[in-house]
Amino acid sequence: MTETKVANSSLVGARRAREDEFYTQLSDIEREVKHYKKHFKDKVVYLNCDDPRVSNFFHYFSYNFEKLGLKKLIATCYKNQEMDLFSQNDSEHAIYLEYEGDRNGSGVPDVEEIGIKSLKGDGDFRSAESIELLKQADIVVTNPPFSLFREYVAQLVKYEKQFLIVGNQNAITYTEIFRLIQENKIWLGVTSGQMEFRVPDYYEPRETRFWIDEQGQKWRSLGNACWFTNLDTKKRHEDLILFKRYTPDEYPRYDNYDAIDVSKIADIPMDYDGVMGVPLTFLDKYNPDQFEILGLSGTDYPRTKTYGKKERVVDGKRSKSNTGTLGCVVRTDSFGPGTHFDVGYPVKQIYKRLFIRRKEQA
Ligand SMILES: C[S@@+](CC[C@H](N)C(=O)[O-])C[C@H]1O[C@@H](n2cnc3c(N)ncnc32)[C@H](O)[C@@H]1O
Repeated sequence: MTETKVANSSLVGARRAREDEFYTQLSDIEREVKHYKKHFKDKVVYLNCDDPRVSNFFHYFSYNFEKLGLKKLIATCYKNQEMDLFSQNDSEHAIYLEYEGDRNGSGVPDVEEIGIKSLKGDGDFRSAESIELLKQADIVVTNPPFSLFREYVAQLVKYEKQFLIVGNQNAITYTEIFRLIQENKIWLGVTSGQMEFRVPDYYEPRETRFWIDEQGQKWRSLGNACWFTNLDTKKRHEDLILFKRYTPDEYPRYDNYDAIDVSKIADIPMDYDGVMGVPLTFLDKYNPDQFEILGLSGTDYPRTKTYGKKERVVDGKRSKSNTGTLGCVVRTDSFGPGTHFDVGYPVKQIYKRLFIRRKEQA
C-alpha cells in the first residue's frame, strides 16, 4: 500500500470507529423543541456542531427565529482533515454564521444571504474561537459527536450553559454523566427511543439499523436515542402513578445490595420506603420531587457482599466465569434453565439497575 492509501485507510478506520456523522431529522427536532418554547425567548442559541448549510437544527431555529423570539442564532461547522477527504461540504475552512432575524422581512432565511464567515481554525467545539462564541450563548442545542460526548457535556457544564442535546441512553452510565443526573444538573428530555439519521455515503452497509432510501441516501437508526438537557420541562414534574403494593414474594431482595428488585417501572410499589433497583428506563419518568436517585449497580454504590469465587452455569453446564464483579444478583432455588452463577449457592444476574428511593411528599 502507498503511504497515502495507508493514511486514508487508517482515517476511514478511525472515522468508522467513531461514527460521528449522524444527521438529525427536522421532525425529531420539532418533536422535542416544542416542549421548551418558553425557554428560548430573547436567548442567544448556539449550534456548535452544525453546518448551517445542511443542519436541520439551523433550519429549525432560523425558520422559527421570530416565533421563538430568539435574540441571535449562531452555528459553527467542524472541518477536520477527514472532512477534506470525505465531506460533501467543499468549503476550504470551517465556517460559522450569525443570524439576528429577518430584519428585511423577506421571510425565508437564506444561508448565503445571511453571510457565511470563515473561522481561523477547524471549528472544534473545544477551540478558542468556538469557546468565544459559546460564551455569548445562552442555550446550546445540537446533536454532538457521540465519541466526544463526555467532553462535550463537561464543557457545557464548565461554562454554565443551558443545553438541549441528542445523545444515546448508554451515556447515562458514564460516571461523569451519571453524577450530573444524580445531582439533578442534567436530565432526560421528553422524547426518546427510536431515532433515524441520515449518514454520509462513505458509511459502510450494516446488517441491522441501516438502509438506503429510494434517492440513494444512506440511513442509520438508534433504538436508544434520547435528549439530555438542563432546561426544565413539564414532564419532569409529573408524578409517576403507582398502584402496586409491596410483597416480599413479588419483589426479591438482591443478594449483594441492600435493595429490592423491581423489574418493571410500572411495578414500583407505592408503599415501599426502602431502596429499590429499577431499570434505567426509569429516568424517562423521573420526577425529582417524587424519587431520589442513589446510585447505579456495578459502580461504587456500596455492595453488601462481594463474591470471591464464582462459576457460570448455563442450562446446567458449568464453565469458567469471566464475569468480573457481578452487578445485582438475586438468589435462586436451583441452577435451572438460563444463566446462573454459583457463588456457593445459585444466583442469577439482573440487568443494570438504578437505585432509587421514594421521597416524602408534602
Ligand atoms: C452526530 S453529528 C450531528 C450533526 C448535526 N449536529 C445534526 O444533528 O445533524 C455530529 C457532528 O459533529 C461534528 N464534529 C465531530 N467532532 C467535532 C468537534 N470536535 N467539534 C465540533 N464538531 C465536531 C461531526 O463532524 C458531525 O457533523
